[in-house]
Amino acid sequence: MDKGFFGWLNVLACLLIVLKTDGFYVDITYVQSAVAKGAVCLDGSPPAYHWDKGFGAGIDNWLVHIEGGGWCNNVTTCLARKNTRLGSSKQMVKQIAFSGLLSNKPQFNPDFYNWNRIKVRYCDGASFTGDVEAVDPATNLHFRGARIWHAVIDDLLAKGMRTAKNAILSGCSAGGLTSILHCDDFHSLLPATTKVKCLADAGYFINTKDLTGTQHIQEIYSDVVKTHGSAKNLPTSCTSRVAPSLCFFPQYAAQTIRTPLFILNAAYDSWQIKNILAPGVADPHGVWHSCKLDIKNCDSVQIKTMQGFRLEFLSTLQVLGSSPTRGMFINSCYAHCQSEMQETWLRDDSPVLDNKTIAKAIGDWYYDRSPFQKIDCPYPCDSSCHNRVFDQQEHPEL
Ligand SMILES: *[C@@H]1O[C@H](CO)[C@@H](O)[C@H](O)[C@H]1NC(C)=O
Ligand SMILES: *[C@@H]1O[C@H](CO)[C@@H](O)[C@H](O)[C@H]1NC(C)=O
Repeated sequence: MDKGFFGWLNVLACLLIVLKTDGFYVDITYVQSAVAKGAVCLDGSPPAYHWDKGFGAGIDNWLVHIEGGGWCNNVTTCLARKNTRLGSSKQMVKQIAFSGLLSNKPQFNPDFYNWNRIKVRYCDGASFTGDVEAVDPATNLHFRGARIWHAVIDDLLAKGMRTAKNAILSGCSAGGLTSILHCDDFHSLLPATTKVKCLADAGYFINTKDLTGTQHIQEIYSDVVKTHGSAKNLPTSCTSRVAPSLCFFPQYAAQTIRTPLFILNAAYDSWQIKNILAPGVADPHGVWHSCKLDIKNCDSVQIKTMQGFRLEFLSTLQVLGSSPTRGMFINSCYAHCQSEMQETWLRDDSPVLDNKTIAKAIGDWYYDRSPFQKIDCPYPCDSSCHNRVFDQQEHPEL
């Protein structure tokens, strides 16, 4: 009976881990069959995903969620990630926590808890769009994201997704962008009878200038598309209208996507503020440093600049035109990825827009219970935000 001091310490440690993530751990699956198809991570290792099987009434429903992690735009930056978890399945942890929209508990995830839930690991560096046949022996870099995409979807189809009744392609950050770029393709790979929709969480990266007026993100995306040979794998409904490198931006690509799409994004997306609006190269003296760590530290000039960013963000949404099937939850928070964490997806104190949590808005939209297209009032009006506060030690790159 008596566990002793260390026994109880263990219990406490486990309890703290569970409380921290509200999640549970799911094992990795390596897609070994992908290697023969040349569908491999940057370093040539097999791609991977984590799958928690559906149960009960959710057994024929599939949620495919794509992991994020930025991009590598040239050989230098791709080499830098090649031997990390973002470039090699050899470096990935064997288990990851599922929470928020990946949770298996009805109280945490009422609409999707019993679905097959998959988190696809990101290891190609180009939002699953690359396909270059040649491998330079000097670097051994493989640019094969689009092949990984097809190999993973084929594998899931063979494991039962072929008979899906309901399906969602979702993702966060660079994975949210993937869910937009591959949305119609995902739809076309499933039976005509499957109800298919896509969810982009923090994947709506906008084409705007940085503080100095440089087209910083446009240059990066253009390099990504060039380095990874992405042009042929971007939606043809976009590349037939505008330059391929622009089709990496949702504001051009999403216009002509036919599958219903939900855009979940903070208007002051913390990644976009840090890397698109005020990247290090545009702020050599670090004037934005403390503001980027915590929005509460921003001075009135910086807030004014960020309000301008929000207006640009909203204008790119307007250009998409209205579609009754589109969902939109644009809150005025300093955040990035709000579906994967329980605290922002669904909890007593989670963000709300018009009194609806993100989980409720997306569930209602997916099941056609009610549409949701809402844009928040400007910062700092929303008291339900969970604004990100970055630790300076953990983010020396800022
Ligand atoms: C690669 O991209 C990084 C980040 O944009 C940039 O700093 C660097 O100069 C580029 N390197 C080459 C060789 O183009
Ligand atoms: C918001 O929702 C809660 C819980 O459903 C409800 O009690 C409250 O009255 C609602 N508030 C508004 C302003 O609609």
